[in-house]
Amino acid sequence: MKVLVLGGDGFCGWPCAVNLADGGHDVVVVDNLSRRKIDIDLEVESLTPISSIGERLRVWEELGGKPMRFINLDIAQDYDRLVELLRQEQPQAVVHFAEQRAAPYSMKSSVTKRYTVDNNVNGTHNLLCAIVESGLDVHIVHLGTMGVYGYGSHRGATIPEGYLTVEVPQPDGSRFVEKILHPSDPGSVYHMTKTLDQLLFHYYNKNDGIRITDLHQGIVWGTNTEQTSRDPRLTNRFDYDGDYGTVLNRFLMQAAIGYPLTVHGTGGQTRAFIHIRDSVRCVQLALEHPPSTAEKVKIFNQMTESHQVGALAEKVAALTGASINYLPNPRKEAIENDLIVDNRCFIELGLEPTTLDNGLMNEVVDVAKRYADRCNRSRIPCVSAWTQTQAQALNQG
Ligand SMILES: NC(=O)c1ccc[n+]([C@@H]2O[C@H](COP(=O)([O-])OP(=O)(O)OC[C@H]3O[C@@H](n4cnc5c(N)ncnc54)[C@H](O)[C@@H]3O)[C@@H](O)[C@H]2O)c1
Repeated sequence: MKVLVLGGDGFCGWPCAVNLADGGHDVVVVDNLSRRKIDIDLEVESLTPISSIGERLRVWEELGGKPMRFINLDIAQDYDRLVELLRQEQPQAVVHFAEQRAAPYSMKSSVTKRYTVDNNVNGTHNLLCAIVESGLDVHIVHLGTMGVYGYGSHRGATIPEGYLTVEVPQPDGSRFVEKILHPSDPGSVYHMTKTLDQLLFHYYNKNDGIRITDLHQGIVWGTNTEQTSRDPRLTNRFDYDGDYGTVLNRFLMQAAIGYPLTVHGTGGQTRAFIHIRDSVRCVQLALEHPPSTAEKVKIFNQMTESHQVGALAEKVAALTGASINYLPNPRKEAIENDLIVDNRCFIELGLEPTTLDNGLMNEVVDVAKRYADRCNRSRIPCVSAWTQTQAQALNQG
């Protein structure tokens, strides 16, 4: 299958691209390298040293991997080139990772809020519009987030895979039953862009029959997959800073360098998780099981387990002997929430979840220890506050 991997130089996109190439697919990596540029702006680097995309592709080919090409393209800005690319390549599928993906970065300032909305919403809309203009039948697999459902109370209800069955009361007292998109409840500007993506998908699927699978992904942990471990020059990125680092990888890295684990608030927040190996496998499964023509947007919950952040910190502390530091929460969010998630779609397609066992957590700690000297400790604290109230609490903390 010919597949364009948009955002294929990123944390989830790079392992996905090599996995698809390894499976014999014809892969074109499309990326504007904005994530690398943001690192420069934030004066931080991936904890793991990462090669340039050119070097990554050369090494992959030298090791006998199926060659991949790279196109430097901004999908949010270069609409005409995107249409041209689709017409030239005629892909059967496009995997869309190409968005600004950090909630804290999206909340840093008006500049980053506006950038996140412009980049993410425009990029997704350009892709949909370009597919219509090209006249091609392309399956889009998009990476969304579990955060679209919101991290408030679901009152013990299980979060379904995208659609909620509701009963609508009628004036005559009768009721009809309908499946609607689960109400969205974004907790940051970043999450809001993902809820807007959902509406764009709903519309273009209804109006133009575009075939779409939207993957509501949990927080990804781990670093490498079998393919990215084949050579140090294929190593995946590892974000640990207060903007781009995600909670479990941050805890494991903090434990590795002897930095107290940074729990925000009480640690009562519950989040969904998935290992990078399973993330890559899920994308492959989604590509292998496309929706049929006229089928509505397929939505899968791409997560394997839920954990409370405080309990996660205790688990990492027990494993490594690290201490825990309870800090003021920079986010405006529920102190505590439940998160019971239906993820049967992927399990039924054959996903065998990689759970949070000690062996894999140790693997991340080992990677972090190996590159501990590359860590800039001043970049670990989360300083991006959701509102002035949180900013004041951070300043006093
Ligand atoms: N990492 C996670 O824990 C996680 C969790 C849930 C969902 N996701 C989603 O998965 C996707 C990928 O996340 P990631 O962690 O790999 O992020 P990342 O920032 O590492 O990768 C995104 C890639 O897209 C590229 N990009 C961004 N805007 C672009 C544009 N306009 N044109 C072309 N390329 C562009 C960046 O340069 C980067 O290489 C995102 O959409 C994210 O929201 C990630």
